[in-house]
Amino acid sequence: MGDPTITRNELITIALKISILTVASYFSIKWMLNQMDPSRKQKNNAKLKAQKQLKKLGVLKSTNLTEYEIMIASHLVVPSEIHISWEDIAGLEDVIQEMKETVILPIQRKDLFSSSQLTRPPKGVLLHGPPGCGKTLIAKATAKEAGTRFINLDVSALTDKWYGESQKLAGAVFSLAVKLQPCIIFIDEIDSFLRVRNSQDHEATAMMKAQFMALWDGLGTDPDCTVIIMGATNRPQDLDKAILRRMPATFHVSLPKLPQRTAIFKLILDGEPLSGDVDPEMLARLTDGFSGSDIRELCRNASVYRVRDYMRTGDLDSRNLDQESDNEEFHDALRPITMDDLVMSLNKMKTSRTYCAPSSLNNIPLD
Ligand SMILES: Nc1ncnc2c1ncn2[C@@H]1O[C@H](COP(=O)(O)OP(=O)(O)OP(=O)(O)O)[C@@H](O)[C@H]1O
Ligand SMILES: [Mg+2]
Repeated sequence: MGDPTITRNELITIALKISILTVASYFSIKWMLNQMDPSRKQKNNAKLKAQKQLKKLGVLKSTNLTEYEIMIASHLVVPSEIHISWEDIAGLEDVIQEMKETVILPIQRKDLFSSSQLTRPPKGVLLHGPPGCGKTLIAKATAKEAGTRFINLDVSALTDKWYGESQKLAGAVFSLAVKLQPCIIFIDEIDSFLRVRNSQDHEATAMMKAQFMALWDGLGTDPDCTVIIMGATNRPQDLDKAILRRMPATFHVSLPKLPQRTAIFKLILDGEPLSGDVDPEMLARLTDGFSGSDIRELCRNASVYRVRDYMRTGDLDSRNLDQESDNEEFHDALRPITMDDLVMSLNKMKTSRTYCAPSSLNNIPLD
């Protein structure tokens, strides 16, 4: 039988073994939990995207960003990657001009505007009006033309349960914008996020809304801070009054009137093969109540008719449409879009409206 007492050395060895085991278990459990975290992949993707965007925007690595700010940075827009400019918007010259004067110019020529409290750009801008009339288009063009940083905030990223920690992310939206200023934070369909608060709101949602407003107010305290929140909605009546108050610059993008519809037809049909009888003014007269997006759909349908005719009249099997050279031939062989195509498409849309009123006819007038 050996000596049952443990020597000092043995005690030290046991203690050492236990501590190594504890440390190893701690790290393996941490690693396992990390692997099991469903938001990990999303977070990593957001991080990678953010790093790419920041690099493209020339934001220096030395701009210290927190983990949450990096998540929000994945929503940054790179102007050169946007294909919409002012020229791609027809009939909204007045709104565009006002947008340039009230929002863009005070940011670009800060030296001229910052001397007075009254000439500083507004902290909030709201684009409102019926669906399909160009609100999102204007926001995209602003992002391209303003020469400021532009965060296209997808609100679901704040509320996504996998992302979690909504409040920290909401805070990061503002802190990132301040670090990158001048900066516009754009929230499309803002009514879905900042709608009238009610008692049925989930506690976390209510807290986030309140926090958002407090952070927004915080922007006003520093006179040199150039961060603007721009929202777009087709339901301004659903917005919380407190939010409306924070968006003093409002732009109403209404259904296009006759000259605006003519301009939209001209823009959309520009560059398309047209027969000589196509008359944009006449088409504009026939499309009272149509939104820009309805007009686009009308033209798209009309353009499809000629492809359909080509398919019907020709012997398809004898043509190899999937070969590139034949594709060119195919385009050459297509007849131009005629006024008949456009009127037929118009009539088809009008008939379908009787069954399902399009969004543009469903609107509550805003003024
Ligand atoms: N003024 C316009 N000039 C040229 N195209 C337009 C115009 N208005 C609308 N369109 C066409 O309609 C499409 C939809 O426009 P947009 O997304 O800006 O509408 P919206 O006002 O944001 O609508 P919603 O309220 O439903 O989001 C555009 O992609 C464009 O093709
Ligand atoms: Mg829109």
